[in-house]
Amino acid sequence: MKRIALFASGSGSNAEKIAEYFTNNDEVKVSLILSNNPKAGVIDRARRLHIPVLLFDRHTFYQTDEITELLQNQQIDLIVLAGFLWLLPPSLVKAFERRIINIHPALLPKFGGKGMYGHFVHEAVVAGGETESGITIHYVNEKYDEGDVIFQAKCVVEPTDTPEDVAKKIQVLEHQHFPKVIADLLLNP
Ligand code: GRF
Repeated sequence: MKRIALFASGSGSNAEKIAEYFTNNDEVKVSLILSNNPKAGVIDRARRLHIPVLLFDRHTFYQTDEITELLQNQQIDLIVLAGFLWLLPPSLVKAFERRIINIHPALLPKFGGKGMYGHFVHEAVVAGGETESGITIHYVNEKYDEGDVIFQAKCVVEPTDTPEDVAKKIQVLEHQHFPKVIADLLLNP
């Protein structure tokens, strides 16, 4: 059995799609959802999906090795960041080298880096007059959005599209591809 730990700080729609995708799968399971945000929508979703949740604060995350040790003890094979905004501490990145992935709602290396998340990304894409956007699934290192790219998918940005229109197209791509890319990484490495 391959075990996934999901980190999310927001609504958690991707976390839910991933968990649902592996329900009844006897090779892969989502073992744990971790969040720094007690008000995050992902927590309700996790309860509904009967997945354990671990809430942590900044001190625990950056000043102790508790999270890394817990993930090691639970024999986690892959850490998936699905709308998680904090930079990972170097010790965690090192302990799970090439076993941490993130999804970014644009075609990296464009529209990435600190502060480029959520609606800021789609606003920048529209303001920049881009004709396409998309999603990037990439390995995580110690810098924002700079690890090696694993997968990208594109969508058209029409001249009349608002940032909300782009966000909707991106979410469709995320839900469609993220679970499958994870399955591929774990089962066909
Ligand atoms: C997604 O757009 C993802 O690309 C980004 O954060 C968003 C998370 O959305 N990293 P949700 O919480 O999964 O709905």
